[in-house]
This record gives sequence, structure tokens and C-alpha cells, in this order.
Amino acid sequence: MKARQKKLYKTPEAGVLRVAYKDDATALNGERREIFAGKGRRNNQITSLIFRYLKAKGIDSHFIEEISETEQLVQEVEIIPLEVVVRNVLAGSLAKRLGKSEGELIEQPIVEFYYKEDALNDPFINDDHVLFLEVATNREVEILKQEAKRINAALTELFKKAGVTLVDFKVEFGRTKDGSILLSDEISPDTCRLWDVETNEKLDKDVFRRNIGNLITVYDEILARLEEVVRNV
Ligand code: TMP
Repeated sequence: MKARQKKLYKTPEAGVLRVAYKDDATALNGERREIFAGKGRRNNQITSLIFRYLKAKGIDSHFIEEISETEQLVQEVEIIPLEVVVRNVLAGSLAKRLGKSEGELIEQPIVEFYYKEDALNDPFINDDHVLFLEVATNREVEILKQEAKRINAALTELFKKAGVTLVDFKVEFGRTKDGSILLSDEISPDTCRLWDVETNEKLDKDVFRRNIGNLITVYDEILARLEEVVRNV
């Protein structure tokens, strides 16, 4: 069982949940776990900033408001059990699967689905598997891909202004009461690969996964750069 990096609580208001970001970091599907004091605050602040930015660009999410350093209010949705990954530069599991080294530019961003099932280690699946598993309809699959690409375009632009290459990222979506698809979960250095444009230095959770740096230092760097960008828009 994966240690959860966020906790969800009901609120007095129907359809509104409180998310509390924790200081836990996990890797290898939960086999490695460490606590980094202050990680929850950084991820809450980065996710809140990104969801506000996306909203301004016409992309809605479940985010309602940041209510403390580590908490936000979100709209309750029924989470679709898919991790939707978008890739702009070859890295991570795709580089491994294709037997190529990391860093090759992917001209047409690749969208992938991973089935969220702890017991199976979240396997990579294709559109037909999604339909067979009945986790989303044909129409929803198309919406997920389209939205993932729209989010990618907006985030690529944001991070570029922050001097960061958005290598790849994972998003999750939910269904609202009226059945529409809504961006949910979080977008933070836990869920993105972020490389410095000049040096290719890794500014994301890979520093923990690969034991190559200080997680808090790089998350602070991302937060500071994003704050600078949104201050100047
Ligand atoms: P991958 O290369 O390991 O498949 O990861 C692709 C992107 O998805 C990367 O930015 C990290 C993110 N990701 C998550 O946020 N959660 C996960 O459980 C996995 C496997 C990847």
C-alpha cells in the first residue's frame, strides 16, 4: 500500500473537501518512504499557484482556494482511476521501455494512460484497455487526451518563463456530479519532471527517487521561480 502524500477530509459544505498536504515522499511504488519537513507546504503552494494559473488560462480544476500553508479546499469529484502522463522529452519509464537514453525531444507530445491499481503497480495501458476495464468511455478517453494536451501547452509556457523545461508530468481527472470531466489531484514537483533550461539540473522528485540532491532546496527553487513569473504577468 502506498503511503498517501495528501489526506482528504469532509467539510460542513456538501461537495467540498479539504486536502491536507503531508511531508511524506514515496518512491518505488511506496517501497521507499521519507519525511521532508516542509514538503507539504511547498507542494500545496505550488499546486495552488498552478491551478490558479490554469484557471486564468481557461482550464478549470477541482481547486477552490488555499486555506492554510498546507491545505486547500477542492470540489469533490469521483476520481477516474487513470494516471494521465504527458511527455515532451524522453525520460523515466518511457526511456527505459524504449531502451533509449533520457533527453531526446518528443516533437508531438505523447499522452499515456496508467491504470491506478496499487496491487498491479499502476501498469501502462492503452485506450482499448481503458474501454475494456470500463474506467472511462470512448468520449471520455478523447476528452482526457485533449485536456492533457491543453494543460501541457499552458504548463510548458509557464515553466518556460521560469527557465524550466517541462519534461513530463502526470495528471488525474474526476467526474463531477453532472458528469463532466475535471482536472483534479495535484500538479507539483512530485508529479512533474522539471529540468533547468540552461543546465538540465533536475528540479523535481527525481532528486529523491535517484538520491541526487536535496528535495526541499529544489522545490523551493521551483516555488520561487513560479512566484516570480506570476508576479510579472
Ligand atoms: P514515469 O517516467 O516514471 O512513467 O513518470 C512520468 C511522469 O509521471 C513523471 O513526471 C512522474 C509522474 N508520475 C507520478 O506523478 N506518479 C507516479 O506514480 C508515476 C509512476 C509517475
